Amino acid sequence: MHQLVTSRLLLRPFTPADVEIVHPIYSDPEVMRYVATGPLADIAHTRRLVDDYSDHQFHHGYSFWAVIEQTSGVLIGDAGLYRTPAGEVELGYTLGKAWWGRGYATEAAGAWLRMAFEDLGVDEVVALAEPANTASLHVLTKLGMRRSGERLAFGRPHTVFRGQRPASIASTPSSTR
Ligand SMILES: CC(C)(COP(=O)(O)OP(=O)(O)OC[C@H]1O[C@@H](n2cnc3c(N)ncnc32)[C@H](O)[C@@H]1OP(=O)(O)O)[C@@H](O)C(=O)NCCC(=O)NCCS
Repeated sequence: MHQLVTSRLLLRPFTPADVEIVHPIYSDPEVMRYVATGPLADIAHTRRLVDDYSDHQFHHGYSFWAVIEQTSGVLIGDAGLYRTPAGEVELGYTLGKAWWGRGYATEAAGAWLRMAFEDLGVDEVVALAEPANTASLHVLTKLGMRRSGERLAFGRPHTVFRGQRPASIASTPSSTR
């Protein structure tokens, strides 16, 4: 599946043409305050990141995807799943400041959780948020993920959240790759 549609958003894999559009978001220190990479210094970093997304998509069938606001057609950020070195499937999202506070992250992340459990055969999704990142903690709580301890990640303490495939959704043979 190469597109996710919610009531207000469309999510699809990034393309090289998105690099210049997403760079102002990835280079904004306020947006990137709690994101592991920090603000990306130049567009070459953003290009490498978008290349990594495509590579991850090719190998695993999911990745961080571009989030498009349907009414404007504007690319407003990213949301998606990434496989960690430990083999977990991790949920993440980053939106440009202009689009915060409208429920968009919850909408995009909710669509990814459904896809993870219903289509990708994922049994558990994890998410990490720094305790000071109130907006992200709210998103994960609203999604129904449960707090599951703390973990040092990228040198900083993070609250760990977990969401499991609901029993009502049968496990599919195409388990996590
Ligand atoms: C985290 C982020 C994606 C949230 O996006 P969003 O679209 O604004 O999120 P939503 O509107 O779906 O939900 C945010 C919730 O947090 C609440 N919130 C936001 N900022 C808050 C604050 N400073 N204090 C308390 N609550 C706050 C909102 O009111 C909302 O809750 P509500 O629906 O109960 O009112 C966005 O802030 C962002 O891109 N931040 C920078 C990148 C980042 O930190 N990503 C996550 C890394 S773990």
